[in-house]
This record gives sequence, structure tokens and C-alpha cells, in this order.
Amino acid sequence: MPNTHVISDSGQIAAGLRHPDLKQALYDEGAVIMDQTLLTLHGEQHRKRRLLEFRVFRKDFFHWYERTVFPQTLLQSMAPDIAAGRSELIDLGYRVTMNLTADFAGIDRPDKSTEETTRLLRLVSTFSEGATLVHSTRPKDEVRTEVRQAITDFGPQFLDHSISRRRALLDRLDAGEIKEEELPRDVLTVILQMGDPQEFTPEVLSREIAFYLQAGAHSTANSTIHAFHDIYSWAEEKQSRWDRLRGDPIFFQRAVHESLRLHPASPVAWRRTTCPMHLDGAGDLDEGEMVEFRLAESNRNKSIYGDDADLFNPHRSIPVPHLPFGHTFGTGVHTCLGRDLDGGVVPREGTDPQTHQYGTITLFLRDLFSRGARQNHDDPPRMATYTARPNWGHYPIIFDEGRQWRA
Ligand code: HEM
Repeated sequence: MPNTHVISDSGQIAAGLRHPDLKQALYDEGAVIMDQTLLTLHGEQHRKRRLLEFRVFRKDFFHWYERTVFPQTLLQSMAPDIAAGRSELIDLGYRVTMNLTADFAGIDRPDKSTEETTRLLRLVSTFSEGATLVHSTRPKDEVRTEVRQAITDFGPQFLDHSISRRRALLDRLDAGEIKEEELPRDVLTVILQMGDPQEFTPEVLSREIAFYLQAGAHSTANSTIHAFHDIYSWAEEKQSRWDRLRGDPIFFQRAVHESLRLHPASPVAWRRTTCPMHLDGAGDLDEGEMVEFRLAESNRNKSIYGDDADLFNPHRSIPVPHLPFGHTFGTGVHTCLGRDLDGGVVPREGTDPQTHQYGTITLFLRDLFSRGARQNHDDPPRMATYTARPNWGHYPIIFDEGRQWRA
């Protein structure tokens, strides 16, 4: 990127990502899948779309989601692995998070089979390659052709019948045969019910839902695996750490946030100036200049997180106003819409552990550890070699009966 201004100071990132004259720029190359999706819209169009899709989170959403949808989807996705007594965490993590994200986006999986999830995952991996085309080392037009084919296949395989089922339910709602509460609570339903049909042409609708699937699944899966590794490695040093993690779910969530801080799924955010402007940390800028906000770097700033900022330490104290997961979910107008879904609510003094909203990563990991999940000492985890990103590529686990958390 020529003439890119780099900002890694946490306060300047927070101010910059709120600036109305800076526009999303990371996905320009990935327009084949990202054009006119929420993350790439700007100004009033973005505000309107975000308000619409935010309606998914209406009354009691998180309570319902964590207590009803999550346990069912988790158990369905994990059943074969639990029966086998072992699993491969990358594969399992992707299957679980794919299904959770599909619930949220509004994509039905009528078979509820591993084969069906794998088919969806394959499409979503191609969408993702399209979204991050800017970083791809492959011929870009080849990737674009694959993405177009995946969008074409997505219709008959998943999207079309998810739309038809929801349209039929909306008709029944109009006819007074069902109540509003009986509608699915997902992005697709909200768009079909209240979205402007002029805005959501079939192509835009398809890209919007495809975008949600890839935005949610990959980031959640990778973050979950990092958090498993960080928590497991830290707790293995002392039994008292396992005891604390098991008995104190709020502390467990704190440990997940610490891992999220260390391994943000999007290490940078890019923006382009829409007019001449002044930006703290970059100076006076002309229209069309690029700014890179270094989220990962700011998350390890020693003046905020202490001298051991590079280490996993769930006991660290974090000064106000910084969040325990730093800028991992972004900030400002494009703040991650899945933040509270995945990370839960940041607890306050006196938060009730019975009613607290923990987020899916904490709930998934607690479920795994309570089933005795541990590394397979005969087949240790390995980092991925197919990407420059420091992600895990092979992570076998065993469900060890002797380590189960019994009531
Ligand atoms: C650990 C998991 C996740 C991480 C680290 C993450 C990170 C991010 C970041 C950094 C952004 C802002 C990008 C920017 O400013 O350029 C973002 C936006 C977004 N994320 Fe996430 N995300 C995660 C999970 C999810 C999930 C589960 C969903 C939905 C099911 C989701 C939906 C979105 C959406 C819709 C946006 C765009 C918001 C907007 O433009 O207004 N994310 N995410």
C-alpha cells in the first residue's frame, strides 16, 4: 500500500475509527463478495443498514441465544466427537462456529449432518478468500471466478430454501396465524421483514448473508482455538489454576478476553480519507489517502497492559477506559456486531454469575474442558503452514474421563 499512514496508539485508533471522514478500505479488492455489505458501507447508508440488522438483538436475545440455541447447536455439532472420545480442534471448532454463525445469519441446515456443515464451510472458505483478496498470493481473477461460483452454488444449496421458509412464516404472521415471537431471530428474517427491497436486490442479499457467514465463522473458530491453547497451557502449570477456572466462570471469561487481546482475528483495520482532513497520529491528509490502524500492536502496548503485555496473564489489571480484549473487535461505527455474541458482556463489580452473559467462546471452551478435553500428548498441536498468520493448523484433543468436571 503506497503512502500508508500507520497508527498504533490506542487512543488515536479509538478516535480514528470514529472519524466520519474515514471510510472502510480493507475490502476494496474483495468487492466480488463484499460490495454493498454492512462492513463496506459508509455514512448514512451504513448507519441505516446497521440499525436494521441490529434489530436481531431485540429483547432477551442473548439470554435466549445462550440458553436455547447455543446448547442445542453445540451438542448437535459435537455429538460424533464426544462419542469417539477424541477430536481435532480445528475441525471441531470450525464445525461448531459455522453452525452457530449460520443460526445467527439465518441459514438453515435441514440435515443437521457433519457432511452438510462441511459443505457450507467449503463455500464460506471461498467467500473468505474473496473478502481477503488483498492479501492473496494467488492470481486474483482465479479467486474471483471461484467466489462467483460459490455464490451461485450457495443459492440452491442453502440460501433459497432459508428465504422461502422465512417468507412463508412472514406470510403466516401477516395472516395472524403466528405471533412475532415465533419468527426465527436472525439477520435474514430481519432483512426480509423490514429491509428495503430496492436496497436488497437478490445479489446484495446473497452477498450480505455470505458476508455474515464468513465474518463470524473464521474469526470465532481461530479465536476459540487460541483461547483453548492459552488457557490449557497456563492452567497445566498449577492445579489451583484449573480449580479457579472451573469454579469461577467469570474468571474463565476473563481468561478468554486475555487470549482475544493477544490474538485479534483482524490485526489491522484500513480506512481511506473521503476529503482533506487532519488526523491525530497521521497529520494533515488529502482526499484518498490510506490509514492503517494496528489493532494487534496496540493490544500489546506495555504502557497500558504492563511489561508482560506479550504474555497470557488473566490476572493483569487493565486501566480504564481500555477493554480487556483491547481493540480485537474493532471500535467506532464498524465495531464488530458479533462482539457480545462471542465475547459476552464485560463483567462489572458484583455481576451475578447465574445471569451473566458469557459469550459463545467461553461457553464452548467450558463445555470442552468440563468433558475432560486435553491435548493428545502423542500428537502435539502444530501451527498452520498454509498461511502467514500465526494460527493453529492441527490440534488433536482427547476427552479424558479422568479430567471431567463432575458436579
Ligand atoms: C472472535 C470473533 C470475532 C472477531 C475478533 C471479530 C472482529 C471484527 C472486527 C475487528 C470488525 C471491524 C472491522 C473494521 O473496523 O474494519 C468486525 C466487524 C464485524 N463483525 Fe466481527 N468479529 C468476530 C466475530 C463475529 C461474529 C460471530 C459475527 C456475526 C455473527 C461478526 C459480525 C461482524 C459484522 C457484521 C461486522 C461489521 C460491522 C459494521 O460494519 O458495522 N463478527 N468484526
